[in-house]
Amino acid sequence: MDCIKLSNVFKRFGSVTALNGISFEVPYNGRYALLGPNGAGKSTTMKILAGLIQPDDGRVEVKGLKPGSKEVKRILAYLPEDPVPYRILTVRENLEYFAALRGIPNPKERAEEMISLLNMTEFERVQAGKLSRGNQQRLSLALVLLHNPEILLLDEPLNYLDIPTQERVIDILKGLNSTFLVSTHIMSIALRLTDHVIVISRGKVVWTGSITELRSLGREDEPIESVVSRMMTNAG
Ligand SMILES: Nc1ncnc2c1ncn2[C@@H]1O[C@H](COP(=O)(O)OP(=O)(O)OP(=O)(O)O)[C@@H](O)[C@H]1O
Ligand SMILES: [Mg+2]
Repeated sequence: MDCIKLSNVFKRFGSVTALNGISFEVPYNGRYALLGPNGAGKSTTMKILAGLIQPDDGRVEVKGLKPGSKEVKRILAYLPEDPVPYRILTVRENLEYFAALRGIPNPKERAEEMISLLNMTEFERVQAGKLSRGNQQRLSLALVLLHNPEILLLDEPLNYLDIPTQERVIDILKGLNSTFLVSTHIMSIALRLTDHVIVISRGKVVWTGSITELRSLGREDEPIESVVSRMMTNAG
């Protein structure tokens, strides 16, 4: 059984067709990148998997269950494109609050671990609403990783992060046993973090396969970005 499965999913916003019959699967422990040009439907796909919005048509399953169900919420973490930590709480308070909400046995200890994991000591007593965008991203990632989720949906997780933090986050994510689906515009991140890619364009899958297969498609010395770019622009 696949961990994530979408079959022929459609989503329209007024006259805009965001998803136009998208289908793909992510197996258990799969590390998949979701690639596609701006407006291709990556964030819409993630929101549907997170149970935030409903598809107009098609089937969506997470571990065989309906997205947004209680069981799925327990094991899944979703990092939105535009994350919103609790703005009036400090970094530490956010972590303690959400750790408690997740039923983690020792919220204070877990908050401390996350602060040190993502190098947040310097601003742990600053309210989330006052943080720089990059530091908000760090906090949001820490909140998503708090409960060691089985399944991670990460929409542009490394956006705004400085280079040392990007490296740290890549190491953290590589060390997890989770199933993940990561959207990114940065090909080097997809190559380092994932083993499979799903390329979408205009709300449909145009190519899917392993990173090894993807590399084999290019001409000699052709950058992988150029191969992926061709897939995106030649589609539909
Ligand atoms: N709430 C909404 N209302 C109206 N249109 C929307 C809404 N959300 C998404 N869309 C439209 O659906 C299409 C897909 O958007 P989506 O945000 O999923 O793209 P994306 O692949 O995540 O793009 P990006 O790389 O820019 O993040 C776009 O045409 C977008 O304008
Ligand atoms: Mg997006």
